[in-house]
Amino acid sequence: MKWLLLLCGALSLSLTTAGSSYNFFRLPTALRPQKYDLRILTILEDLEDLRFNGTVKIQIEALQNTNNITLHSKDLAINDTQITLRQISGEGNPDNCITSTEINPTHDFYILNTCQELLSGHVYELILPFSAKLQEQLAGYYRSSYEDPVANETRWISITQFEPASARLAFPCFDEPGYKAPFAITLGYHKKLTGLSNMPVKETKPHESLPDYVWTQFQESLPMSTYLVAYSINDFSHKPSTLPSGTLFRTWARPNAIDQCDYAAEFGPKVLQYYEQLFGIKFPLPKVDQIAVPDFSAGAMENWGLVTYSESLLLYSAEYSSQEDKQELANTVAHELAHQWFGNFVTMNWWNDLWLNEGFATYVASLGLENIHPEWRSMQLESVSNMLTIFRRDSLESSHPISRPIEMVSQISESFDDISYEKGSSVLRMMHLFLGEESFRTGLKSYLERYAYKNAEQDNLWESLTQAAHKIGALPKDYELKIIMDSWTLQTGYPVINVTRDYTTRTAKLTQERYLLNSNASGIHRNGCWWIPLTYTTQEEKDFNNTAPQTWMECSESGDSLPKTIKDLPGPDQWVIFNNQLSSPYKVNYDAQNWKLLIDTLNSDEYDTIHVVNRAQLIDDISYFAWTGEQDYDVALKLISYVERERELLPWKSVFDNLKAVNGIFRQTPNFKFFKRYIRKLITPIYEDLNGINDTNPAIQQPDQILLKTMVANWACSYQVSDCVTQSLSYFRSWQSEANPDENNPVPIAFRSIVYCTSIEHGTDEDWEFLWTRYQKANVATEKETIMDSLACSLEVWQLQRYLGRIFDAKGAIRKQDSAGVFQSIASTNIGFLLAKKYLMENVDSISEFYHPQSEYMAEFLAPLSEQIFTRKDYNEFKTFIVNSKKVFKDVEQATSQALEIILTNVQWKERNYEKFTLALQKLLNTF
Ligand code: BES
Ligand code: ZN
Repeated sequence: MKWLLLLCGALSLSLTTAGSSYNFFRLPTALRPQKYDLRILTILEDLEDLRFNGTVKIQIEALQNTNNITLHSKDLAINDTQITLRQISGEGNPDNCITSTEINPTHDFYILNTCQELLSGHVYELILPFSAKLQEQLAGYYRSSYEDPVANETRWISITQFEPASARLAFPCFDEPGYKAPFAITLGYHKKLTGLSNMPVKETKPHESLPDYVWTQFQESLPMSTYLVAYSINDFSHKPSTLPSGTLFRTWARPNAIDQCDYAAEFGPKVLQYYEQLFGIKFPLPKVDQIAVPDFSAGAMENWGLVTYSESLLLYSAEYSSQEDKQELANTVAHELAHQWFGNFVTMNWWNDLWLNEGFATYVASLGLENIHPEWRSMQLESVSNMLTIFRRDSLESSHPISRPIEMVSQISESFDDISYEKGSSVLRMMHLFLGEESFRTGLKSYLERYAYKNAEQDNLWESLTQAAHKIGALPKDYELKIIMDSWTLQTGYPVINVTRDYTTRTAKLTQERYLLNSNASGIHRNGCWWIPLTYTTQEEKDFNNTAPQTWMECSESGDSLPKTIKDLPGPDQWVIFNNQLSSPYKVNYDAQNWKLLIDTLNSDEYDTIHVVNRAQLIDDISYFAWTGEQDYDVALKLISYVERERELLPWKSVFDNLKAVNGIFRQTPNFKFFKRYIRKLITPIYEDLNGINDTNPAIQQPDQILLKTMVANWACSYQVSDCVTQSLSYFRSWQSEANPDENNPVPIAFRSIVYCTSIEHGTDEDWEFLWTRYQKANVATEKETIMDSLACSLEVWQLQRYLGRIFDAKGAIRKQDSAGVFQSIASTNIGFLLAKKYLMENVDSISEFYHPQSEYMAEFLAPLSEQIFTRKDYNEFKTFIVNSKKVFKDVEQATSQALEIILTNVQWKERNYEKFTLALQKLLNTF
């Protein structure tokens, strides 16, 4: 027997894909794993050879007869002479074995051909030994390091990142989310270290042969998908926090950062408890560990019971982190803990419904934040920023539906985008608002309970919610959520409603079509129909709080849009406004008279009688209509200019977001001077009102006012408004004159990024070096990030050139996870844009090699460049570059087509609007 296996093993090593006829990227469905026993020994002591080796024992149920076991395995050494297979339940001879093995590298399959046919209904036990180098990339089971400042040594830890398809890099498994099974994990490591995994420790005992090594066995998990498995060996410290309900909660970080764990340790249990109440379902695991990983490619990852974070999203320092950092941190913790229900407890069947994970976690996190920190007003902020994001992204023809077919593995990574997250969250908010609290909660609870420890698809959710809504009476009996929501999740894009009022009959006619940024797109591309819950209010009522639908815009059975007439509207001297508080993702264009009425109110002392979210909406809508030619820039600028009175964050955010798009193009043209004068005129009053970048204004208590002040100051310094630059430089000088600048920093936290950037922009080589040194010495991740971005503000070509080289140096001071972000910072500046573009074009192969095999990173380089390209010639150059680098960009097709479409819309804007916009600016400036 043994020799046969040996022979087969040797034979199989020489086999590749040749023998395999199965060439589909999904696993065959004949088998189903029932349980995994995973045992992994990690050696972190031999720096020359950081490795792991392990054994996986999988109980497999045959659902159909089959002659092979096909599972996932990638870059793992498997000694196939040691593989065993036997039948453990069912009739007949339990002996079985493996005749040969094959690999299919295209789909990461490892195929084991069996000696005897596996029979439907029988259960088998497969034992596979494997080993690999601890990965250097940030996926699979990989290494991370940090400097111990006391011993002046590098410390190594190990950690996992499996989502979406990297568990296969760590152990052979059925690496698809539908194959849930319990995991019993045992980790072997040096006894001076700590081992963590999804579940609590069951027992630790000495290693049978390696002195000073231990085996730690963890409790068996609940049934879970492979992408949620996690483990780590480290020498971290932790901060415990205990929930009254009994879930043990611990926050882990490198020892020198343990004092930055307090906030996350306090916030985590609070939000977990809020979700238990919200969903009416207790958190099912006995513990949660959250750990800050120095090298981490995503922002955070929701592994069940062992949540991983990049340092900047888990660690908080009162002396270094800003209000924005704090809110982002809380949002991240809230997001990952929301996944413990949406994603971990109930998981999407397949990645086409990724939005059920990410859209939900995004939306539920904003409910969590609103509940715990109502003073942040994060629900409003999140809703508006999500809308602003999707109005841009989803107005591209190259966008895609929320729920999208996955036709190859690279599309899974590409799905973690604004559409799954922000649009997913926005349509859930819409649904929450039109269903009301009770149906929403009851429907969700029954969905979660029905699919607990199982997988679901969006139709299952619609069914549970429709049942609840019909029972409660929140939805007309002849309405089905599936029909309403399919129009939002299966269709690309979002609608614009055109409102034409008849001022004599006091009615309005509403029609809808898809909104597209490409104004040359033909009518066919604008087809589509969305079920829209309509809310509106009038100048008389001003009832913006009513977010329950007054009526619906419906679609015919064949999916055509049906016009709608609204009656009983006010007379010709009163406006109407649709979409109270931006409850649903659609734009609204009015007739000229209604726009005029709205603009008159905005430009009067009554401007704040229009809800703040709708003020942000009006700014965004009219900016887009001007961009695509449905409105004149004269009208749009008249509306936007009202913000001179505005003192709230959201309308300003909307203005800046829209001006940013024009700014990227306009600043490269001779008429930029008019734009500059306009911006200065617009922001000087608010800058001075908020007391510039002085931190002493006692009126600013409200956290969102701090965010506003930071945002205004940012633009003010870029446009040299008032004392912004001189004040920044003086803050920077006083920091430089500190005896110990790494301990004492007199720059107000809210303005650090502005002060650093402005000082580098106007500074000397010494200033750059000073800041670079601070970067290297900083112990707080958010401070490091702020500095990294600011170093890109230099106007010195040679400095930027050197900086570009430094970010792609694997052994340098900048971690791989940060390199794309720094590239983006450089590319977004005036001088840096051309340098970054050239650098990418000349070094694309080595950059791709730098990230290999995480090819999804290549997407990060396109957007910041495309936003600033606006001539046909440059479009052609960029397109040729992409075509010539096809291999490098093959896994980021979506990002490349979006980048090209963005450039095309820029070209259109320049050709069609440049002169018009300039004239409108000049006209406006003459009236000042
Ligand atoms: N599940 C994701 C992590 C992830 C992202 C895995 C992309 C694989 C690919 C996690 O829940 C997440 O969404 N993280 C966000 C942060 C969050 C606050 C929006 C991230 O990493 O950016
Ligand atoms: Zn997420």
